Amino acid sequence: MLSFSVLPWSRLCRWLLVCVALVPLIACSAPVLDQGIGYQMVSPSPDGIGKVYMGREIAQTMGHQGAAWLDRPSRTLQERPIAAIQGLDLAPDAVVADIGAGTGYFATRIARRLPEGRVLAVDIQPEMLALMQQELDNQGITNVEPVLGQIDDPNLPPNSIDLALMVDAYHEFAYPYEIMQGIVQALKPGGRVVLAEYRAENPLIMIKRLHKMSQAQVKAEMAAVGLEWLKTENFLPQQHLLFFQKPDATK
Ligand SMILES: C[S@@+](CC[C@H](N)C(=O)[O-])C[C@H]1O[C@@H](n2cnc3c(N)ncnc32)[C@H](O)[C@@H]1O
Repeated sequence: MLSFSVLPWSRLCRWLLVCVALVPLIACSAPVLDQGIGYQMVSPSPDGIGKVYMGREIAQTMGHQGAAWLDRPSRTLQERPIAAIQGLDLAPDAVVADIGAGTGYFATRIARRLPEGRVLAVDIQPEMLALMQQELDNQGITNVEPVLGQIDDPNLPPNSIDLALMVDAYHEFAYPYEIMQGIVQALKPGGRVVLAEYRAENPLIMIKRLHKMSQAQVKAEMAAVGLEWLKTENFLPQQHLLFFQKPDATK
């Protein structure tokens, strides 16, 4: 066994030098914690940002340059937006937040079903909001309010919304925990959160790996911010529709 008392000083110095030289190597190969929330930084996958939350690498954000893809005609068959919206079971006066709203594909369709309600359509890309505003003007829709969010904050007033919807969006939020905290704060007691995500459980669904999510993963990430799972609907061709609720502390 080695003992400092018997080690010659020259050997001890050599040992120390080797240890110091190894520190950066160990630091580079191990995941690095980000901000103490539990994010880890790893080497990025081709469609990822190299940031891991609860075992899931976060996907790259879709840039506004690809906005036309959100309004592709084939989407009505692939995602059945009207059926998805009917499944939300919205009251006519509901206040709905569409988080990661993009060009407003869902926001505009939801707004038409809310004669006394409105949609807060949040996105972090001003270019997306500009495209959305153009569409709102074209269609004469006045009950959608575009909201410029921050990467870690949806910028919604507290206690203001009945439902938060995220369609094909949550998996690319770079600060999912902080965004969900902002959403929970903005929900009225008993308010609901609904996510539409392509099913990761099905390898035959031809969507990039990090742009799909499993039910188990979504449930774990929503539980982390205190949301209760209500149900999962599987009537859409390729996506889960997962429903959660903010507990009503007064009950
Ligand atoms: C794939 S698009 C989906 C758009 C829309 N939900 C739809 O289904 O047509 C994802 C959108 O989420 C937005 N996004 C990414 N991170 C966000 C964040 N932290 N807060 C709000 N929006 C975000 C992107 O800018 C992009 O417009």
